Amino acid sequence: MEPPLSRPEIIASWNDRYFGGTLPETFRDSLAELPTERQDVVDFLEHFFKLMHHGRFVSTDVSPMQCTVLGSLLSRILPGAWSGRIPPITVGGRHVLIDEYVLRNKWRDATPGLFLDIGCGFPPVTTLDSVAALQGWQVLAADPSMPAHVVYDAEGNYATFDTQGEMVYFQPAAPTVETWNALAEDATATEANFRRLLDRLLPDLGDGAEVTSDGARLVHPMRLYSSASLSFQTAGIGDVQVQDVDVARCFNVLYYLDATFRRRTMQWFEQVLTEGGLLLIGGDWAHTSEARYSVYQKVDGHLVTREFAFSLDNLCPASIVSWFCLVDDDFETLLLADLVRELRSDAAFLQRLNSVNDRLREQHDFAPRGADGFYSEMDPSLGASEIWGRAGAVASDLNEELAEEAVAVLKAGGHEAWVNDLGHVAVMPTGVASQ
Ligand SMILES: C[S@@+](CC[C@H](N)C(=O)[O-])C[C@H]1O[C@@H](n2cnc3c(N)ncnc32)[C@H](O)[C@@H]1O
Repeated sequence: MEPPLSRPEIIASWNDRYFGGTLPETFRDSLAELPTERQDVVDFLEHFFKLMHHGRFVSTDVSPMQCTVLGSLLSRILPGAWSGRIPPITVGGRHVLIDEYVLRNKWRDATPGLFLDIGCGFPPVTTLDSVAALQGWQVLAADPSMPAHVVYDAEGNYATFDTQGEMVYFQPAAPTVETWNALAEDATATEANFRRLLDRLLPDLGDGAEVTSDGARLVHPMRLYSSASLSFQTAGIGDVQVQDVDVARCFNVLYYLDATFRRRTMQWFEQVLTEGGLLLIGGDWAHTSEARYSVYQKVDGHLVTREFAFSLDNLCPASIVSWFCLVDDDFETLLLADLVRELRSDAAFLQRLNSVNDRLREQHDFAPRGADGFYSEMDPSLGASEIWGRAGAVASDLNEELAEEAVAVLKAGGHEAWVNDLGHVAVMPTGVASQ
């Protein structure tokens, strides 16, 4: 049997096979601490770089931020770091345009109804965004890992605990590489700190929804967040007790799970949606940047594909969500990779993309391209929400400037394509009647 490859050999092999050996040393150095003894981490990156290669990305399309996130953050947020559980990681404002889509699309009118946010993550910040955006709607948030308690330390970092008192997950207040490292470097100590806080605050909580002491906070999320328009269930796809859903959103969930699971998922959604109801499945990063999603509608009792849409920053992403995928048969990720390949293969369009993207990165001061031809580092003084805001602004301007041109390229390639109600590029996927 061949001896296992060393970490430098694995990194060199990715560089050779996927970037023709041209990844700068600084980028490779960012991967130098990668825990390559973890097969899930190696598999993820193999798949990630393979998708980039398929999408015709070259080393000047790789961002230092991607390398840093892949090198030091990724291993902490994969299910492998959480006993195989998909972490409830989420960020507020993530689905801002997807909420807008619910109110403004050509398939269903905006009449308020029942909105199911499945795999909502925790704390339910994206669900709370939806409650605010969808006035008059009933919102049901469901997740199999719904915590019994959430403990916040004085800095706002938090940990979730299940009904048995087991810690399930922790996350920094503003997730950046630095803040994640600070918590996860010594995960045992972090868990012990959160447990001490839980033990200290729990007796004071009683039947209440939250209790604070010295800047720390203990929350009983179901009691705190439930309202006349928002309810919760601790359950996943197939198990949530619900009927007559008008719109279901399942975001940043299915790219962890394989196509067999997805087939069962689609059957279940077909049962729980009301006639005319919409199903939105996909993934995105911040402010609906790096977004890819499928839209289905229940017609005559069956799910019909309405569109597959994506934001154009997937053609030049700053972060890792475009190619974040744990399985090799995720529908949206594969379709995105194919469409990105087609667009990036069109020399004239690629030139336009690069020039518009470089100008927008400059304009929004979003890690612009340097004189060496590579993207620069993200300004370290920027907080997470500032980075997310700029990512959203660049994505939105890119869509505005280039969506029609991208559609023209895809149409010339034989696709039924259009700019959708959010300004994203949309196609009708072919050969996927009930995907
Ligand atoms: C990365 S989080 C996404 C959270 C949120 N939807 C967002 O987009 O920010 C993935 C969530 O999927 C949930 N999940 C895992 N298996 C699931 C299942 N079978 N059904 C529904 N949700 C599931 C996890 O508990 C986790 O909270």
